[in-house]
Amino acid sequence: MARPAANSVLLSLILAELLCFSTVAMAAYNVVSFGAKPDGRTDSAPAFMAAWKNACSSGKPATMVVPEGQFLVSRALFQGPCKNNKIRIFIEGSLVGYYGYSGAPEWITFKYVTGVSVYGGTFDARGQSLWACKAARRHCPNGSRALTISQSKDVLLSGVKVMNSENFQVGILFSRAVTVEGATITAPWDSPNTDGIHLHMSTGVTITGSTMRTGDDCISIGEGVSNTWIQNIHCGPGHGISIGSLGGSPGNNAGVQNVTVSSVAFAGTQNGFRIKTWATPYKGFVKGVTFQHAAMINVKNPIIIDQNYCPDHNNCPNQSSGIKITDVVFNDVHGTSAKTVAINLECSPTNPCRGIELRDIKLSYKGEKQQAAQSLCDNVHGISDGVITPPSCL
Ligand SMILES: *[C@@H]1O[C@H](CO)[C@@H](O)[C@H](O)[C@H]1NC(C)=O
Ligand SMILES: *[C@@H]1O[C@H](CO)[C@@H](O)[C@H](O)[C@H]1NC(C)=O
Ligand SMILES: *[C@@H]1O[C@H](CO)[C@@H](O)[C@H](O)[C@H]1NC(C)=O
Repeated sequence: MARPAANSVLLSLILAELLCFSTVAMAAYNVVSFGAKPDGRTDSAPAFMAAWKNACSSGKPATMVVPEGQFLVSRALFQGPCKNNKIRIFIEGSLVGYYGYSGAPEWITFKYVTGVSVYGGTFDARGQSLWACKAARRHCPNGSRALTISQSKDVLLSGVKVMNSENFQVGILFSRAVTVEGATITAPWDSPNTDGIHLHMSTGVTITGSTMRTGDDCISIGEGVSNTWIQNIHCGPGHGISIGSLGGSPGNNAGVQNVTVSSVAFAGTQNGFRIKTWATPYKGFVKGVTFQHAAMINVKNPIIIDQNYCPDHNNCPNQSSGIKITDVVFNDVHGTSAKTVAINLECSPTNPCRGIELRDIKLSYKGEKQQAAQSLCDNVHGISDGVITPPSCL
């Protein structure tokens, strides 16, 4: 494997760790000492759980180590609360799931933890057989997320590789202050529902320097997400970076607020920057979003607000979205659109979008038709500023 640099950095980190802190009796737990086998065949879940139990119940900062090799882990729930707020998990090898699906909703999960950092590691969920089931349109379970952070705080994922999830690859749910840096998240372009990172009911999430090549959204932002910063992302193939779908359940849906997405390269994606809400009257809001600095290469919908989402026209025909979208900026977006409509702002007739701003947009249509790119607006109030190509519909 061509990762000597990363590995030696990781090794020296671990060594420095052990040398510097052994004097203060920092606890280090290697999964192999608890019986994990790097043979890719023996279920090492019990050993991982035993190492975690020790790290979690340590009164001092603790380190868990997963050395080189392939560890089969059937499922693992790293659950807190723990007796210390500083657990570091150094992973040099890879965790792999069983081929064949269980129907469980999660594979590797961190729940009720505070102050956990994961450095490195490959998480290969091996979701191929569930995708095959879905492709055959048989009755299939939903599949599990590969990596879930739930009801947790101060969590770092640094340099992790996640791949081939049955469903969403990484889920950050009901959590605060979660950082993902230098992640690589991959699944084939035609694998169903393999969103790279999905956020739900969380605040203070930061995602930087990461690459997503997936069969669904690179990053999807669900309801109740606020104060989120996303920067330096490579996305594609995939469905782009989306807020939504929102408004899928009756009553008042928790809103999305204060989200910045900055410096993204989209290549061959279905969407670039997207906000999507169901065409249902259920209430909610999206407020204070900045989408900026993007290069689009052959993207089908580079800039899109779609408030008429209603797949198969099921349960939402002729309704309009109850989600209020306000104060959304699209700034410095350039490149090529694979469809003639490069800017498509389709808001709700009953809740028009307000405070939408287009600033310095340069998108050209690159496709078979001899046509210029165009912009479409429906029920939108806002302004445009700077050079806008195609000409702004605002
Ligand atoms: C599977 O997903 C559907 C749609 O999101 C949901 O309604 C259903 O409850 C899920 N089933 C299970 C077993 O989680
Ligand atoms: C908005 O979110 C950013 C993090 O992305 C945070 O630094 C800032 O304080 C938030 N603003 C408000 C008003 O909460
Ligand atoms: C929706 O509107 C279309 C066109 O106005 C109409 O043909 C159709 O019957 C309507 N469907 C429902 C379910 O109301």
